[in-house]
Amino acid sequence: MTVLVTGGAGFIGGNFVYHMLGAHSDYKIVCVDCLTYAGNMSTLKVAMENKNFVFYKTDICDREAIYKIFEDEKPDVVVNFAAESHVDRSIENPEIFLKTNILGTQVMMDACRKYGNIRYHQVSTDEVYGDLPLDRPDLFFTEQTPIHTSSPYSSSKAGADLLVLAYHRTYGLPVTISRCSNNYGPYHFPEKLIPLMIANALADKPLPVYGKGENLRDWLYVEDHCKAIDLIIHKGKIGEVYNVGGHNEMANIDIVKLICQKLGKSEDLITYVADRKGHDLRYAIDPTKIHTELGWLPETKFADGIEKTIEWYLNNKEWWQTIISGEYRDYYEKMYGNR
Ligand code: NAD
Ligand code: TYD
Repeated sequence: MTVLVTGGAGFIGGNFVYHMLGAHSDYKIVCVDCLTYAGNMSTLKVAMENKNFVFYKTDICDREAIYKIFEDEKPDVVVNFAAESHVDRSIENPEIFLKTNILGTQVMMDACRKYGNIRYHQVSTDEVYGDLPLDRPDLFFTEQTPIHTSSPYSSSKAGADLLVLAYHRTYGLPVTISRCSNNYGPYHFPEKLIPLMIANALADKPLPVYGKGENLRDWLYVEDHCKAIDLIIHKGKIGEVYNVGGHNEMANIDIVKLICQKLGKSEDLITYVADRKGHDLRYAIDPTKIHTELGWLPETKFADGIEKTIEWYLNNKEWWQTIISGEYRDYYEKMYGNR
């Protein structure tokens, strides 16, 4: 079986590449990634040595190049991770989000239609459901929760989801969608909360917490997300959406304090900064459907996952220090300089 993975040089896509190479040693994994600021070949260094892995530096919006890859590689399944993924960047400049996340999805699905109605999986997010109030811990997102987005990022992901479902209904494309909560783990780009706080704390730099730090996110170890997608592409029901989450809600401030404690750093590094515009209050997934239909359950508890993650950042300083020394430095100055 040949699985084409887009966005494999990014955080979750990279973890998925390693998961698939390990779990299915007879599969060929074809990775397509155009290497934006968020894509790193160093993430795929070990995969590049595997004979079952091939990499194409290609933009998913480039129809001609994508069609050529489908002709050459003849994938059986496509898993689309490639996206612009950072909410703060989408607030600064929405356009590339609409292009990659919506039009790129369209190109990938057109290729699936053209080359034999290929099985397509869209990696989406719980952010398409908008947010839940902080004072209603009884509420969760189910697959029936209406789409109600807050940021240009989540809107672009929701637009893509609607298009995926439309391709199923209109053209009979065999699709599935997964909507996962916040992931954490190795290879997470250091602009996102957990790796940013680890990197800043290690450098004794301020830890910028938006607003009061009360916002709740439902954190899932990235390997558990990869296993969920693996299950869905093999056993998921065509045309269905599956929510993926670990029932592990934490306030941002508690995560930042935990990181300080684990690294032996003072909480005095915590700096409250201006809130994110349109900041979603709470995300919380009800994963009953994927549990009852496919038997999925998260395996890594947050206490263990955060240990493993911090350990990984301590042991792989070169990976993230290279990233934060480059173009990223200008981004950081722009986003946090006057906040
Ligand atoms: P990421 O930003 O770390 O990686 C995205 C990857 O896609 C990068 O390697 C980048 O180079 C590539 N890419 C971007 N535009 C491209 C294009 N036009 N053509 C080809 N490649 C392109 O993102 P991530 O956190 O790994 O997220 C992966 C997917 O999972 C996204 O679709 C995101 O919406 C979804 N998701 C993420 C989370 C999370 O917590 N990070 C949670 C739920 C869903
Ligand atoms: P992030 O990792 O960007 O993921 P998402 O916006 O998709 O949930 O942010 C996680 C939470 O942390 C979110 O509520 C915003 C907050 N946050 C901060 O407080 N400070 C920061 O520097 C960043 C990047 C995020």
